[in-house]
Amino acid sequence: MNVEKLITLVNLILGIVFLSSVRGEKEVYMTKIECLNYMPELVRNVSCYLNETHRTGSINAEFILTQDVEDMKGIYILTLKRGSYVTNFTSLHLDYCQMLSSVEKHFILRMVTKQLRETANFPLQCPLKMNTRYYTNGFTINSKYIPSYMPETNFISDAHLRVKDRKAFRLLVKGRFSRRLPRNYIKTK
Ligand SMILES: *[C@@H]1O[C@H](CO)[C@@H](O)[C@H](O)[C@H]1NC(C)=O
Ligand SMILES: *[C@@H]1O[C@H](CO)[C@@H](O)[C@H](O)[C@H]1NC(C)=O
Ligand SMILES: *[C@@H]1O[C@H](CO)[C@@H](O)[C@H](O)[C@H]1NC(C)=O
Repeated sequence: MNVEKLITLVNLILGIVFLSSVRGEKEVYMTKIECLNYMPELVRNVSCYLNETHRTGSINAEFILTQDVEDMKGIYILTLKRGSYVTNFTSLHLDYCQMLSSVEKHFILRMVTKQLRETANFPLQCPLKMNTRYYTNGFTINSKYIPSYMPETNFISDAHLRVKDRKAFRLLVKGRFSRRLPRNYIKTK
């Protein structure tokens, strides 16, 4: 291939990348939340609420612990569903205590921890303290953290928590990655 053709090809590729990043602006719409408490003797006063009045859906959740907790591990699975096509986009073993204090490399975890720090009162390190009301109020995902290559799909975000290696809690959120709707979409529709 000669140099001129190569440059044309590079320009073409850059053009496509640029266009898809402009068109690809996605938002996270949340449509369902489910909290499963397997250790009611440890986790109390659990409430999970999806605010459907919010444009993209937002989460209010809270709980109280009956003991200090400094060992929280588990699996996080993000499943993408498009028609009958289902794939595990990520399946990660996590140390949730470490996540509180660190900046995550994986973009999914980074956007979740970033938003939690803004909407929740979790401490920046374990232990989580007993008899403290931990809550998040108005949790959403900021679209600027979603890479443009994320396809438009439905998703299931499934976080399993183990405390001292016992199944303790599971947080399921369903929703979709979708193109941002124009501001006046609903009015003009
Ligand atoms: C937790 O729930 C119990 C009963 O469900 C209630 O009596 C108690 O006041 C609640 N605690 C807090 C701190 O909200
Ligand atoms: C739900 O979201 C709307 C829009 O952001 C907000 O005005 C309202 O206070 C929220 N309701 C609750 C219960 O958080
Ligand atoms: C996704 O991961 C979960 C847990 O590891 C597993 O049970 C499930 O079969 C996986 N699903 C797919 C489609 O690979």
